[in-house]
Amino acid sequence: MIDLHNHLLPGIDDGPSTMADSVEMARVAVREGITTMVCTPHINTGRYPTRPRDIVLAVESMRAELEHRAVPLRILPGAEFTLDAVVRRTDEELRMVSLGGGGRWLLVELPFKGWPLDVHDVLDALEVRGFGVVLGHPERNESVQSNPDRMRDLVGRGALVQVTAWSLMGENGPRAKRAAEDLLRNGFAHFIASDAHSARRRPPGLLEGVAAAAAAVGVNPGALRWMVEDGPRLVTQGEVVRVPRFGAPPPRRRPAAPAR
Ligand SMILES: [Fe+2]
Repeated sequence: MIDLHNHLLPGIDDGPSTMADSVEMARVAVREGITTMVCTPHINTGRYPTRPRDIVLAVESMRAELEHRAVPLRILPGAEFTLDAVVRRTDEELRMVSLGGGGRWLLVELPFKGWPLDVHDVLDALEVRGFGVVLGHPERNESVQSNPDRMRDLVGRGALVQVTAWSLMGENGPRAKRAAEDLLRNGFAHFIASDAHSARRRPPGLLEGVAAAAAAVGVNPGALRWMVEDGPRLVTQGEVVRVPRFGAPPPRRRPAAPAR
């Protein structure tokens, strides 16, 4: 699996504070079948005005450490932008921390409260500059929780949507769980990612998130696999992403009627 959203890099945001903790988190991820993590530290205009160049350097040093410790995890650069931060960066900076360094897709989070009236403008401005947007965990936004249909318009404009494994498991509250399921059911969610912050507090848990989605929502198993494998791969390669139609899941078998 390819995890498109996590805070694996040490000492750069609210993820692990030491390299040892990051390596432990990487080991947990490998154990659950994650082969690639796109590292997405926060970039905002408040607490974490991190420079894209510093993320690229942090990925390089962690890559060397993983190799040294024989942890078989591939890591790639990325960032989790707020709407106000993403528009302030140059094209070169955005390309540097596009998801996987693929040059096209940017992970942008919605605020948890309220609805950002400028979201369409930001998406349009980025599109003109040659970038597409993956919206991070909109199920955690209060406004989407009240009306998941809000995502219809953004998806119609070409935005892709990532829901968080922990939301599907109910760990971000019942409203986030319901909204995440609703987005999946209606085809407004394209990727499942971990948004993991540590090996213990908010650990990777991607596999459990996929299992929770399969149990709660009637999504075709092929579609769920695409959300954590083929889809994320296209994103990291900077490809145009066309979401395949998987159709309804196979019907559950009814017990045979008793013979008369
Ligand atoms: Fe995040």
